[in-house]
Amino acid sequence: MDIERLLTTSDPEVVEGLYAEARRLRDEVYGRRVFMRGLIEVSNHCKNDCLYCGIRRSAQVRRYRLDEGQVLDCCDEGYRLGFRSFVLQGGEDGWFTDEVVCRMVAAIKGRYPDCSVTLSLGERGRESFRRLREAGADRYLLRHETANREHYARLHPQEMSFDHRMQCLHELRELGYQVGCGFMVGSPYQTLDTIRQDLSFIEAFRPEMVGIGPFIPAAGTPFENERAGSVELTVRLLAVIRCLHPHVLLPATSALGTMHPRGRERAIEAGANVVMPNLSPRDTRALYAIYNNKLSTGSEAAESAADIRARLKALGYEVPLDRGDYSV
Ligand code: 5AD
Repeated sequence: MDIERLLTTSDPEVVEGLYAEARRLRDEVYGRRVFMRGLIEVSNHCKNDCLYCGIRRSAQVRRYRLDEGQVLDCCDEGYRLGFRSFVLQGGEDGWFTDEVVCRMVAAIKGRYPDCSVTLSLGERGRESFRRLREAGADRYLLRHETANREHYARLHPQEMSFDHRMQCLHELRELGYQVGCGFMVGSPYQTLDTIRQDLSFIEAFRPEMVGIGPFIPAAGTPFENERAGSVELTVRLLAVIRCLHPHVLLPATSALGTMHPRGRERAIEAGANVVMPNLSPRDTRALYAIYNNKLSTGSEAAESAADIRARLKALGYEVPLDRGDYSV
């Protein structure tokens, strides 16, 4: 596969061929099915100061966190709406100790044993990952952000370590999680070469999930005046990732939906097979502003689940009400 050509060509026949092959491979593994996860943004407190992120430590934003009762309320609503998979995502917030998270996970699994629980709480120690897994967490999302060490250093403050991030991904894998990695498309200093390294990493690591979305500048961050990533390149990369790793679970991310009204549909037509509507409490959604104008209403909102399913149905997709596990 000539990846550079696929990502840069303006020949519509080549591009359509790429999307058709991505759809074919997805359909072969998963059928024409798109899985839904309810995304619960549990905290916008974060001890890290990533240069791109709108909720970085030094950002001047109103902070919030959800307690166990609030998280369970979100799950109750999600379950009623048909969700069987919940994602607890948040900044690296010290309030979410192992004890607190284990209790939350165990409570969700106790109430809803037919649901999967995914955590996306940043880097933690191996022992912590082990305890959360033991408490019932099924999956863990931790974007690697970039597989190029020098690039990583330009996106993150000095105290953050590329090696530790990679180590976390390997530990999660060893502990039996379904693991998701991923990166932003068009982040500052990204090149075709760093993208090639991201793709090689994905090919070698074979994660169960890959989350990619365009970089979108966030007000008040060092990158606030940088250019946003391209929707077109993001969609092509989704298709390339599907072709390199046909079994992967590939979300059509909100960043894509934020940048283009048909962003999510385009992703699905290029081989994506997961959507993650926002199931956070209505009054905290706007506070989880990792980038400007982040969508959390309309078709990004979990209460629109029926609407989302109808739109996908119109495109010819089933939206099963199940956990949507990785298919081996
Ligand atoms: N634009 C797009 N994606 C972002 N993320 C963080 N900040 C931004 C931004 N400005 C992504 C990172 C992180 C995930 C939760 O959101 O890749 O891992």
